[in-house]
Amino acid sequence: MTLKKVGILTGGGDCSGLNAVIRAVTRAAAIGHNAAVVGIEGGFDGLVFNRTTELTVKSTRDILTLGGTILGTTNKGNPFEYRELKADGSISVTDRSDETVANFRKLGLDCLFVVGGEGTLEIGYKLHKKGVPTIGIPKTIDNDLDKTDYTFGYQTAVQVACDALDRLQTTGKSHQRVMILEVMGRNAGWISMESGISGGAHIILIPEIPFNIDKVVEKIQFREKGGSPFSIIMVAEGAKEEGGEQITLSSASTRLQGVPQLGGVGQYLADQIKKRIDLEVRCTVLGHIQRGGSPCAFDRVLGTRLGSYAVQAAAEGRFGTMVALKTPDMVLVPLEELAGKVRTVPVDSQLIQCAEAIGISMGR
Ligand code: F6P
Repeated sequence: MTLKKVGILTGGGDCSGLNAVIRAVTRAAAIGHNAAVVGIEGGFDGLVFNRTTELTVKSTRDILTLGGTILGTTNKGNPFEYRELKADGSISVTDRSDETVANFRKLGLDCLFVVGGEGTLEIGYKLHKKGVPTIGIPKTIDNDLDKTDYTFGYQTAVQVACDALDRLQTTGKSHQRVMILEVMGRNAGWISMESGISGGAHIILIPEIPFNIDKVVEKIQFREKGGSPFSIIMVAEGAKEEGGEQITLSSASTRLQGVPQLGGVGQYLADQIKKRIDLEVRCTVLGHIQRGGSPCAFDRVLGTRLGSYAVQAAAEGRFGTMVALKTPDMVLVPLEELAGKVRTVPVDSQLIQCAEAIGISMGR
């Protein structure tokens, strides 16, 4: 089909590589199809409140290396369950999807490119079922989306966490301390696993394998007895103790986003270790540093390939799909197949086997 005018929005938490995707979509649509490109601002909120901007080859010229998203984003704006804080402090939830679809139609767009993680793509699929020709583009530092080898943003986050570990290694060794690094990833341990392995962590704790404090302490003491009274622990924010719960900073019911904010397991771990052994323990929480800044080369290439392939898919009328990496190719996956699926680290994976084979403790 001939593409005349297409729209793109970025939803959910930001990550490195979003602008590489926006640039690739804009260039592929403009150069390959002479199509106009409309940037929808602030995620789906841009459709609810009619906030858009024109995107051109010129206006996207310098954004390949830029972190964040020039369109803005929110992880609170689900048009099907629009959450608003009322004056009395309560949260109201309304369905604004009809307005969203009507506003999409008014823009006269042939296609909506929805760049996001699981939640955003699920909204994209629901809009598709309401008649919006949607194509999804997979994003998240958590790498927890099914049906794609990698999401863009992930490799950059791993590199940032790996760099942080390199630094903790030298200070930890100098002071003979136990250094804990808490990283993001929600319910998936990918960031923790791969940055832990690449940064030489001695203990890696992930949500998929509840940890046993005694086993963690055993590993630290084993190293101490072997002449290394310092240890590096990588812990995912979603990791939990055997028989325990994930630790949260705020609950779903108090957040406009409607999901709990994970965090605090690193300090919990530090406190538990200190109760058991006489070593200095320090915790660093890496937080949103993993999401900001310039994308690594892998994410620039992946974002560019996903964006350009998404335009090709739109021109072929393949709506209701997500573009995905199935190494070495780009493929299309029905959005329907993603619904409600989160890809966690398989407990019997070679990645975990590799970690344990080289002596990394998984806290079990
Ligand atoms: O999904 C990406 C992510 O960074 C998670 O790893 C993390 O749990 C969450 O978003 C943090 O969200 P927020 O920026 O709303 O605190």
